[in-house]
Amino acid sequence: MIPSVSIRLATESDLWPIIQLDTLSNPHPWGENLVADALNTRKNWVIELGDVTQKSIVGWLTASIVLDQSELELIVIDSSVRRQGLARSLMMTWLKDIKQQNVCELLLEVRESNIGAISLYESLGFELVGCRKNYYQIEKKGQAEQGHEAACLFTLTVSV
Ligand SMILES: CC(C)(COP(=O)(O)OP(=O)(O)OC[C@H]1O[C@@H](n2cnc3c(N)ncnc32)[C@H](O)[C@@H]1OP(=O)(O)O)[C@@H](O)C(=O)NCCC(=O)NCCS
Repeated sequence: MIPSVSIRLATESDLWPIIQLDTLSNPHPWGENLVADALNTRKNWVIELGDVTQKSIVGWLTASIVLDQSELELIVIDSSVRRQGLARSLMMTWLKDIKQQNVCELLLEVRESNIGAISLYESLGFELVGCRKNYYQIEKKGQAEQGHEAACLFTLTVSV
């Protein structure tokens, strides 16, 4: 684990650092409007590196909560600091939080090609419950659509 890691709820003033993170490290960036909408309407956490004098946001998790379900909408970690447990820490923060809110089911959808994210979710106990065929477009930056791939649906039941 990297030293000086902290996790906190995101605030409005995190908008631009999160947009930058989304642009540079999300292979399918959401863009400014969707990031702003997520900050306004969902529950958001950021993970920061550094000390009090200089911190930078290197990860973001956004999730919705509807009744007793919470859905992971996106988790992204800065490409330069991956495989150091940061995404796992953010996911654990989300899991801990929803337990206090009477949420009993967690949901998420992920591209079938996203092996890294799928390994992360499975390591936390998420189970594959279905697939939506041809749900996502496969595109390469600056190129036309290259086909489609399935969305894999995962759930985790939590005891409240
Ligand atoms: C998926 C993502 C969030 C993982 O972030 P990360 O900080 O590197 O993940 P962690 O270091 O916490 O990994 C925890 C575990 O997940 C699994 N994992 C993560 N990335 C992996 C990869 N590229 N290949 C295989 N397993 C991976 C491993 O089991 C890992 O444990 P280990 O390192 O001890 O083997 C990051 O790669 C990312 O931001 N990707 C782009 C955005 C994205 O695809 N988001 C998910 C869709 S919403």
